[in-house]
Amino acid sequence: MTERKNYHLAPSILSADFTQLGNQIHSVEEAGADYLHIDVMDGCFVPSISYGMPLIKSIRKCTDMVFDVHLMIEEPDRYLEDFRDCGADLITVHAEACRHLDRTLGHIRDLGLKAGVALNPATPVSVLTHVLPMCDMVLIMSVNPGFGGQDYIPYATEKIRELLGILNARGLNADIEVDGGVNTSRVPMLLSAGANVLVAGSAVFKGDAEKNARDLLAAMEACI
Ligand code: DX5
Ligand code: ZN
Repeated sequence: MTERKNYHLAPSILSADFTQLGNQIHSVEEAGADYLHIDVMDGCFVPSISYGMPLIKSIRKCTDMVFDVHLMIEEPDRYLEDFRDCGADLITVHAEACRHLDRTLGHIRDLGLKAGVALNPATPVSVLTHVLPMCDMVLIMSVNPGFGGQDYIPYATEKIRELLGILNARGLNADIEVDGGVNTSRVPMLLSAGANVLVAGSAVFKGDAEKNARDLLAAMEACI
């Protein structure tokens, strides 16, 4: 029997106004979001460069939200301990960026953190067959990683469904996160496919972040 999952909204600060970052974080926390999605990009695994440890360390002081750190970096093992020390609670690495994924997941868990694996749109769910029991979360990318504000890739929904089927068949209970192009109108489709952690960047931070987060949470609540 698989346990019932908890649902989380994970606003992605990539789309936040950095001149107001602390206030923006408080707004989404006030709205009821309990995860904060932090996209780290190295300009190598993905074309863009975002931010890293100093920023995470700084915002760790202003909130107790779960720091969901999405590493879009090559060979992330080099920095796992640093990310733990600056405040990550959950570290997600890309399967495509890890030469020894089994070792990397073990390393994250040995640091006392939750371990997630992200899959690019073109990467099949089957690459995780042997490591699924080591995953606390699987992140299905529904855009090609590197930028906020891109359009949702429709076949991501099939991947979420496929993953849920595999987890249920094997009695595993990893969270299923989806990232890219998430907005209120897509919430019912994503939840019914099996996602339980929704990342939203531009849908939260473009405009009134607190209201947008409340609307997304209400849309999630209506489906549960
Ligand atoms: C993209 C990042 C996302 C991004 C999502 O590579 O992983 O977390 O912030 O942005 P939206 O929700 O605008 O698609
Ligand atoms: Zn992300």
